[in-house]
Amino acid sequence: NNPTITLNSGCEIPIFGLGTWKSKPQEVLRAVKYAIHVGYRHFDCAHVYQNQKEVGLAIKQKIEEGEVCRKNIFITSKLWNTFHGDYNRVKEGLEKTLTDLCLSYLDLYLMHWPMGFASSDILFPMSAGGGIAFNTNCHFTHVWKEMEKLQKEGLTRMIGVSNFNKGQIEKLLAVAEIVPAVNQVECHPYLNQVELSNFCRENFINLTAYSPLGARDFVQKDTPGPLDDATVISIAKNHCRSPAQVLIRYQIQRGHIVIPKSVSNDRIFQNINVFDFNLSDDDMAAIMGLEKGIHGRILRGKDYRNHPEYPFKELLGPASKDI
Ligand code: A2P
Repeated sequence: NNPTITLNSGCEIPIFGLGTWKSKPQEVLRAVKYAIHVGYRHFDCAHVYQNQKEVGLAIKQKIEEGEVCRKNIFITSKLWNTFHGDYNRVKEGLEKTLTDLCLSYLDLYLMHWPMGFASSDILFPMSAGGGIAFNTNCHFTHVWKEMEKLQKEGLTRMIGVSNFNKGQIEKLLAVAEIVPAVNQVECHPYLNQVELSNFCRENFINLTAYSPLGARDFVQKDTPGPLDDATVISIAKNHCRSPAQVLIRYQIQRGHIVIPKSVSNDRIFQNINVFDFNLSDDDMAAIMGLEKGIHGRILRGKDYRNHPEYPFKELLGPASKDI
């Protein structure tokens, strides 16, 4: 019920996992325990989500209860932007995460963004003139070399990136000894990432789709998202499935890894039950046709648009005046 794919390193990853961005600390402990109970074996975490202690406690309790063992669970976390810098700082970022998650190693450690912020214990340090204080001395290619050392030391089985555009991956590959295992980016029918997905595939990098359901707990409540889309609803009805199951299945059939977030037992259970039906070629084509280009992007990172490595430069063009 939880198929895996093999990444470029030869290690396997369950193609379906639980997202934890926006999960409140007081809700995520119970959610992760329930998810393990119903078969989830892949958890996507990050320092900036501010809930890793609770995720770690849930996993620890389930291991102690004998329901799973560490090597049968796949755990991803991410280096936050304030930890870009020399080796000690990058390693400190991972060690803090390992402590919070109560783990001795990660399965996958991602550079969360290609943008460095000033070293700080504060997640979004402010500059004297207002706005986020950036660290532009430490390019992501340098951070990557430091992350490679973490993998060689065995602190993480694999490394990868998140929120990288095509040009940034090309720059990374030019210096990389270890090719990133994945690029984790926003991906759903309104932002289908077809070009980036093909580019990643050609370079043996797997795409992980975050916000596959349209992150409705992040956007304004009245903004219609892919879960409310008439085409998605109609395809769901034809298969006697929910719109969320169609959106998850759509990613799996594209060969993407997918990590829908939920803290509700019903929805956690529903979301993993996507391995016993198939979307037809016509269904897939209809969903691919829902692309909205830059207007489909939810996570715009508007606080860091001035960073030289802001990855969504297309949002800064004339077409984005309304955004
Ligand atoms: P909840 O956590 O209350 O279940 P994404 O993964 O795109 O960020 O989407 C997460 C959002 O979608 C959350 O608001 C989550 O709410 C909601 N969600 C998760 N699973 C489902 C589902 N099966 N049906 C409807 N909404 C869902």
